[in-house]
Amino acid sequence: MNQSTGIRSVQRVDARHRYEILVDGRRAGLAAYRDRGAQRVFFHTEVDDAFAGQGLGAELVQAALADVRESGKRVVPVCPYVAKFLKRHGEFADITDPVTPDVLGWLEEELG
Ligand SMILES: CC(C)(COP(=O)(O)OP(=O)(O)OC[C@H]1O[C@@H](n2cnc3c(N)ncnc32)[C@H](O)[C@@H]1OP(=O)(O)O)[C@@H](O)C(=O)NCCC(=O)NCCS
Repeated sequence: MNQSTGIRSVQRVDARHRYEILVDGRRAGLAAYRDRGAQRVFFHTEVDDAFAGQGLGAELVQAALADVRESGKRVVPVCPYVAKFLKRHGEFADITDPVTPDVLGWLEEELG
């Protein structure tokens, strides 16, 4: 099994509207969002192929959602991977808002 043993960390990069997961200081994945008032709308998550299937996606989303809670914000899981994560991790149910047509329309405009 090609399990990564590198040191992992997750950082929020406000200027790029995303969280990044680093392995030994190298960016291995990201979770992109836009803020809609108190809602942090997650719309895309990706992990580099070289690091796929090692749980990095889950680690990244776990840390991102903990940061959302700490920031007093709420989560909207447009990204299917984040949605799947939330189904498995009920501890974030209290800060999760549904994906509505309003949110999707707003996101489309935001992303141009
Ligand atoms: C989705 C992705 C971020 C997962 O990263 P990862 O580090 O390999 O994820 P983990 O090891 O934590 O988890 C793997 C799980 O993700 C699931 N998964 C993979 N692609 C998925 C997708 N598009 N939507 C939902 N779940 C997905 C796998 O089925 C696996 O599920 P399991 O735990 O039931 O076996 C990565 O595969 C990727 O970058 N994919 C291409 C971009 C993409 O499709 N992003 C998601 C939609 S925006």
